[in-house]
This record gives sequence, C-alpha cells and structure tokens, in this order.
Amino acid sequence: MKQVDQVAWLERMLGMARSNTRDDAPGLTYTAVEEYFDRARYDREVEVLFRRHPVVVGFSAQLRKPGDFLTHNETGQAILVTRGLDGKLRAFLNVCRHRSATVEAKACGSGKRAFVCPYHGWSYDLTGRLVGITDGAWFGEIDRGAHGLRPLAVAERCGLVWVKPSALEAGESAELDIDAYLGPMGPELEAWSMEGWDVHSSVPIRPHMNWKLVVDTFLELYHFRYLHGASVAPLFLDNITTHERRDRHSRFAAAKKTLMEIESQPRESWRLLDHAVVLYTLFPNTVLAYTADHCGVFTSFPVSPDESLINVSILVDPEVRSTRPESYWKTNQELILSALAEDFAVGATIQANFRSGANKVQTFGKFEKALGWYHHDINAALS
Ligand code: FES
Ligand SMILES: [Fe+2]
Repeated sequence: MKQVDQVAWLERMLGMARSNTRDDAPGLTYTAVEEYFDRARYDREVEVLFRRHPVVVGFSAQLRKPGDFLTHNETGQAILVTRGLDGKLRAFLNVCRHRSATVEAKACGSGKRAFVCPYHGWSYDLTGRLVGITDGAWFGEIDRGAHGLRPLAVAERCGLVWVKPSALEAGESAELDIDAYLGPMGPELEAWSMEGWDVHSSVPIRPHMNWKLVVDTFLELYHFRYLHGASVAPLFLDNITTHERRDRHSRFAAAKKTLMEIESQPRESWRLLDHAVVLYTLFPNTVLAYTADHCGVFTSFPVSPDESLINVSILVDPEVRSTRPESYWKTNQELILSALAEDFAVGATIQANFRSGANKVQTFGKFEKALGWYHHDINAALS
C-alpha cells in the first residue's frame, strides 16, 4: 500500500481517537432475526451463495507443484482441485461418474498422477479425464470422453483459490472471472502480494451459529471492550475503526493502542500495520485480517441453519516466518483461537435466543454499519 494511503488511514483514525468520534453511518440499520434460522431462507442461501458465487476453498500454497491437490466439502459439494502437469489449476466435483462415490478422500496431497475411486477403481487423471475402468472390456459400451470428472470454474488470486461449486454445463468456461467478482477490491488485495505466502495452520471450528452470524462477529470492534477484555482488547483502542464499502465487499482498519504514540514520529515512517489491523470482508463468507506479520483467513460455511463450519487459517510470508521461532506463531494462533472461542460462546447464546420472540430484528448501531451493508448485500443477492 502506498505510503500516502497508509498515512491517510492512520490520520483518520487518529482524528477519531482525539475527538472521540466514530466512523458513523447516518442511522441505525436492522436485519430480521428469521434470516438467521429460517429453513427456506437457509436453503436459498446455499443454492445462491454457495453454488453460484465463487468461494475460497484453499490457498495457492497448497497447490504449488504439478500433482498437488486438495479436496473441500464445506459448501456441501464434494470438490477436488488439482495442479496439472501443465501447471494449470483445475477444479472438479469429486464425484465418480460410475455410481457417484467420492473419488479422493484425502484433504490434500502431492505427487499425484491419478485419482482412483475406492468403490470399483475407476481412475481419473489430473485433468479429470477418465483414464481407467476396472474390467473395462466387459463393463459395456461407455463414452469415456463424456465421463470425466465434472469440471467447476476455478481461479487463483492473491494466494487464494476460488471455486464456483456448481457443475459447468457443456460449453461453459472453466475460467472464473475473479476480477469481475472482486471488482475494485481486486487491485487492493493484490497490493498485499500474498501469492507466495505459506499456510502456517488451518483449523476448522463448528460454532452453534448461523454462518452469517459467524461473519457478523468480524465486522465491528464494539464488542471488544466487554467480550475480549481478557484476550485481544488490550491491544486495541476502544472501537476506533474506519469502514469502506467496495461493491459487495468491505474493508476496515481497527486502530491499535500504539497509534497514539506516532504523532511525534515523522510521517514517512508511519506504517499502517504497525498501528492497525486491516480487515476485508469478501462476499459472502470470507474475512481476511492483515496484521503486521501475518494474514488471518476466516471462511464461514453453512452446516445447518443453526450451525456452521469456519476454517481459521494463518498465512505468513515465508521470509517473515523464518525470522521468528515456531513458538511465536503458535502463541499468535492461540490468541486468535481464544478470542474466537469468546465470540462463538456468546454467539451460541444469540443463535439459541433468535427464536425466543424477544427481538424481531438485530439492531446495528451507526458504527456497526458494516453489518448493515453485509446483510443488505446478502438480501439483495437472494432477491
Ligand atoms: S462408484 Fe466409482 S468406480 Fe464405481
Ligand atoms: Fe470478536
């Protein structure tokens, strides 16, 4: 990020901290509580947002070499992503074209040349082509060319791998137009240069919360003082955040306490990430959190109306990673996980209380405007 932009962000937060003001929306916003538990609504979200939108299924770091692969099931679709011998990334439904068994069971791997179905041994190469039928001479006539793994649209950008989880129809392109999807957020994300980063860790958590309620926990700092008083709150100024919308995505910076020390320092030396964490919400279910030395990637997936699965991953520049002992990164991860445990404990009470009749809507304060944007955009995508 350009120095002038970093200074602008820091000055904006300094101004808010000095005047004790917030980055306000004009008024309150609301979203109906049914949106978090209604079954028909949930089914529609899965159908629209987790079938027809690109979702993050993994990282370039897991798929660097020909023969690398990963599988992903959290959207409800069995997905296989491979790096071909030609270096090309491809994605498929991980579903055998014989009788629909899941072909590759492992979460990831490398050095692969063929995927062999565990049921009757049909095999597919890295391009998804059906290359072997057990007892093929006696099986009967079958058009092998038409029985490759069903391809999915896939793209990689900024170290993230995106898939659109519905099978492509004949003639549909497997190129996912990720630039169109990211819109103005694309160049900004690319400026973080995350392509070569390692995955330090990736941990799944199963909160008793609707998948959107999980995303909600990342969109404001209002709750830090109370909920995270013993974990991450001591690092941050109280509720000093800047919010911007970029199409259906949004970003914000959250000021750390050290921000108050920089006024005496020359502006050329100001670095945004020394004094703030920068978060991006990528529609509909991914949050990136950039800190001074790593990026947290949080992807929330629907399991049922009242349950979700969130993958908590930490990406690190390998050069930066090598400057610190592993214990440092472990401590970092534990701090994130302990804050999330606090979020998800209170979140489970929220989810349980939605049906109580106490509230018809969730009320978002003026400085919680990113939640208003998020739910507005989800509703717009479904309508
Ligand atoms: S289901 Fe895969 S080989 Fe039969
Ligand atoms: Fe939180």
